[in-house]
Amino acid sequence: MSTLSLAASDQAHKNEHVQLLFDDPSHCGMTIKDLKIVAKNKTILTVDELRLPKTGVVAIMGPSGSGKSTLLKAMSELMDENLNHEGHIEITCVGDTDAPDSVCSHFAMVWQKPTVFPCSIWDNLKIPLRKRKVERKQWRGLMEHALEQVGLLDELDAQWWKQRAQRLSGGQQQRLSIAMGLLKDSNIFLFDEPTSALDPIATEKIEQIIRDLGRTKLVLLVTHSLGQAHRVSDYSAMIHNDKEFGILGEFSRTEDFFKSPSSAKSREFIMRETGLTQGMGGPRNTQEVAVN
Ligand SMILES: Nc1ncnc2c1ncn2[C@@H]1O[C@H](COP(=O)(O)OP(=O)(O)OP(=O)(O)O)[C@@H](O)[C@H]1O
Ligand SMILES: [Mg+2]
Repeated sequence: MSTLSLAASDQAHKNEHVQLLFDDPSHCGMTIKDLKIVAKNKTILTVDELRLPKTGVVAIMGPSGSGKSTLLKAMSELMDENLNHEGHIEITCVGDTDAPDSVCSHFAMVWQKPTVFPCSIWDNLKIPLRKRKVERKQWRGLMEHALEQVGLLDELDAQWWKQRAQRLSGGQQQRLSIAMGLLKDSNIFLFDEPTSALDPIATEKIEQIIRDLGRTKLVLLVTHSLGQAHRVSDYSAMIHNDKEFGILGEFSRTEDFFKSPSSAKSREFIMRETGLTQGMGGPRNTQEVAVN
């Protein structure tokens, strides 16, 4: 278990639409409480309280600039240097086998742009194994298993270890990043718009991997595609722009989120993104939203 900085913040913007699921600690993988992220004197994002499951895919949606990427950065302690956060982030779904030396090592991050290193596939994949002090004689087997899990092994040359990572296609590079996360033995995967630059076939492959990961790990997926959230996620979190900053406005099971969002702002967001202009009444109506 690890706990980030613990100074309590003021709670000026309590939000009644966030459902607290996972009361049972055995199902709760991460708890966020009274989180406030500030850049210099400007508040960027507040989250009053959120409990995330140990396993499953959580889609994080919201308008551009609402703070989705910043939330992932706060969780993984990869904040830009002029950002600060107050509040409490407790991670309970970390394995203890490899005794990671920083919060960051609990997480595997996959960004919008692939972030592989300019060297061979082998040299990319050995980074997490070396960090975990895995014996060298096990490397090849573990690497091939990870490449197989992300569907890359069949697509690469027979001598895949010599191939340059940056010569792979964008989608393949994204899957290589996921393979690196698997070799890191991370229990939490953070994806920030991982398919926004990919074609539908590459997107489908990544979505399948995200669904598979969600069976055994906690996966947070920032996406602008409501269709993607609907296809792959078990839970949906919505960040709204409230006055001048982002605020977590809803956390629901994805099925409920799309059938009957609990807040007016979520409803408006879904209508705007799906092009619907009518057909959704008050909160928690029963009308299903068409999502592509
Ligand atoms: N290092 C920083 N310093 C100052 N402001 C920042 C910093 N990083 C992010 N912000 C601001 O925080 C707000 C949220 O940014 P963030 O990138 O998290 O939004 P987002 O929801 O991910 O948007 P998008 O959907 O466009 O990716 C923005 O107003 C942004 O300008
Ligand atoms: Mg972003």
